Amino acid sequence: MTTTTVAPVPRLRGVVRVPGDKSASHRALLAGALADGPSRVVGLSPGADVRATRSIVAQLGAICRDDGDDLVVTGPSGGLRPAPRELECANSGTTMRLVAGVLSAIDGQHVLVGDASLSLRPMDRVAVPLRSMGATVEGHGPRITAPLRIVGGALRGVTYEVPVASAQVKSAILLAGLVANGVTVVHEPLRTRSTTEDMLARAGVAIESVDVGDGRRVTLHPGRPRPVDWSIPGDPSQAAFFAVLGLIHRDAEIEVASIDVAPERIGFVHVLRRMGAELTLTPDVDGASLRAVRSKLRATSISSHEIPSVDEVPALTVAAAAAEGVTAFRAMGELRVKESDRLAGAVALAGALGARAWSDGDDFFVEGLGDAGQFASFTHAATLDHRMVMAAAIAGVAGHGCLIEGSDTVATSFPGFFDELARLT
Ligand code: S3P
Repeated sequence: MTTTTVAPVPRLRGVVRVPGDKSASHRALLAGALADGPSRVVGLSPGADVRATRSIVAQLGAICRDDGDDLVVTGPSGGLRPAPRELECANSGTTMRLVAGVLSAIDGQHVLVGDASLSLRPMDRVAVPLRSMGATVEGHGPRITAPLRIVGGALRGVTYEVPVASAQVKSAILLAGLVANGVTVVHEPLRTRSTTEDMLARAGVAIESVDVGDGRRVTLHPGRPRPVDWSIPGDPSQAAFFAVLGLIHRDAEIEVASIDVAPERIGFVHVLRRMGAELTLTPDVDGASLRAVRSKLRATSISSHEIPSVDEVPALTVAAAAAEGVTAFRAMGELRVKESDRLAGAVALAGALGARAWSDGDDFFVEGLGDAGQFASFTHAATLDHRMVMAAAIAGVAGHGCLIEGSDTVATSFPGFFDELARLT
């Protein structure tokens, strides 16, 4: 376990490069592995989560070859074949849930395992729909936690209403649907990132999406993805940390280059602007660059509906702690089943900074200190949660420093996070 001391710095300037989007990286590997032939991936995330998916597709028969900074993934013409050993998903919920969909369609038995954090996370959300398609998916207890035993085989297309807003669940069903008998229809109650749909469509799969109220209906016809060359944009959920840092630090101008600006991904930008943030999005080669300069922030009310998947809440918690007034985070129950209980973690982090923070059911509240200059210095003990480490780190840089135990957890999604932070000074 690594401990990092984060010191406050007087001035921050520069352009940050965040890793390739984690969601698109997982899907490029999976779509490439399912295709017949080579797909080049430019800008793959270097995080351990994506490495777990890469290792699994290789064990299932895809050939993964590094070519300079690119990766070439070649799916076997005869399709993926069963892997002889248990498959390690490490800390990655996206790996476990999406691969569960792929394995449901491969004849034979597989076991998916994960680390201590992943082994606590609910897999019933994928087990239920995949069972209804004809796969056997077993785990521990009512929430079907890992290790997951999956017996795949012939599947049938289903119509499934996803009970929680989850891109991972939607994607697991769609990936299984690629080889099902008949059409698969997924209704999601709230539009989550459309990475799977968009990438499968680009790979030639017949898939249509229709908006229904705040949600979406996705219809997929079985088919094999074609090999495609992918260029992965920067991960907006990582950009959120640098954007908040740029806003709350006493002397900062920070730009994050080339991030994905899909509507389901940049809800945090709208939330921060509502808080008074001076944030500019300018189109660039691979998406847009996001520029943040010091801004006086005021409290707001944030609903999980504005930021589906709630990945940006750790960063927004730090913004709320620096804002004037009480920020309400509403309907945040999904935070409890992320890499750690981020609802408790967010309240604890805001408290450690010296802000008054409390929860009430699935809501939580942060009474901001009005300025990051008022933050206390603090110690953060990581619980296998990369995003909580990054949130603590930006609070330490903008405030009065912090000590982070278990800081190496950032390697899950952003191995170069602390180097990138140091470059700004
Ligand atoms: C992801 C979906 C999100 C998000 C995760 C990546 C994906 O989870 O938290 O970091 O790539 O599909 P949900 O399944 O809750 O949407």
